[in-house]
Amino acid sequence: MIRPAQKLYNHLRISLLFCRHYLKSRRLEGLAEVDPDRLVGIISSVEPIRSTLLQDDTLIQKTDHGAGSLLTTIETPVSAIARSAVSPRYKCQILYRIAASIAPRRILELGSSLGISTLYLSHLDSCEQLTTIEGDPAIHAIASRQNHDSRISWQQMTFDKGIAIAEEAGAVYDLIYIDGHHDGAATLDYIERCQRLLSATGMIIIDDIYWSADMLDAWRRLSMDESYVECTDYFFFGVLSRSRTRSGAPVASIRPFSLI
Ligand SMILES: C[S@@+](CC[C@H](N)C(=O)[O-])C[C@H]1O[C@@H](n2cnc3c(N)ncnc32)[C@H](O)[C@@H]1O
Repeated sequence: MIRPAQKLYNHLRISLLFCRHYLKSRRLEGLAEVDPDRLVGIISSVEPIRSTLLQDDTLIQKTDHGAGSLLTTIETPVSAIARSAVSPRYKCQILYRIAASIAPRRILELGSSLGISTLYLSHLDSCEQLTTIEGDPAIHAIASRQNHDSRISWQQMTFDKGIAIAEEAGAVYDLIYIDGHHDGAATLDYIERCQRLLSATGMIIIDDIYWSADMLDAWRRLSMDESYVECTDYFFFGVLSRSRTRSGAPVASIRPFSLI
């Protein structure tokens, strides 16, 4: 479903929401430290791939399975996708650090795009198996060429189908990262189904909770769910955790840049 553009928050609104989040949030406490040299190594392995994609003006036919974006067109250069849909470097670092706090062995990513966040997650020392799902065949084809790590399974299908297959197979994940179809109702539905796939100490990371009013509303509803030990708002991500990852309240706002 393509959402009407006016329902998305514009840059000014997102900046104001960020300022408000910053003022009411606190600095990080208690999350596992990541060795800075290790992070530099990961950045220097993944970022050259991003740079190549940013210079790739090959036109591909893009099919939108999600909530849509103000920048989406049907025929799109790879470079435009790398600029608009792929998480920037600072966000990938924040994601990596949040994920590292639970040392996940089995990871499910909904929304590979060109595979940049996938590659960051695959560098987690604990990662044994990473399944990443992308609905767009042309984008999937590019992403799956990036890396031949046997722990990564690049799947081209809708989130719906990916979750159904995992349910049928009785799959269990320690980390589920949802980054696509940014629609409040769809997100609530994916999370309801994904929580049945989550291990007893697992974590769900939801991207772009400040993307639109209904995404924020969905996050606010999720953060009241007492079946999670911690519900943490990192502005760029909402995190639902079944285990304790830091000292503090069950519901908290953390300044995201304290993670990089
Ligand atoms: C924001 S991008 C993912 C970015 C990537 N995780 C990163 O950080 O670099 C979202 C991707 O999800 C895909 N997508 C959205 N809704 C989907 C759905 N319902 N099923 C399958 N893929 C979907 C889109 O095609 C898009 O490539």
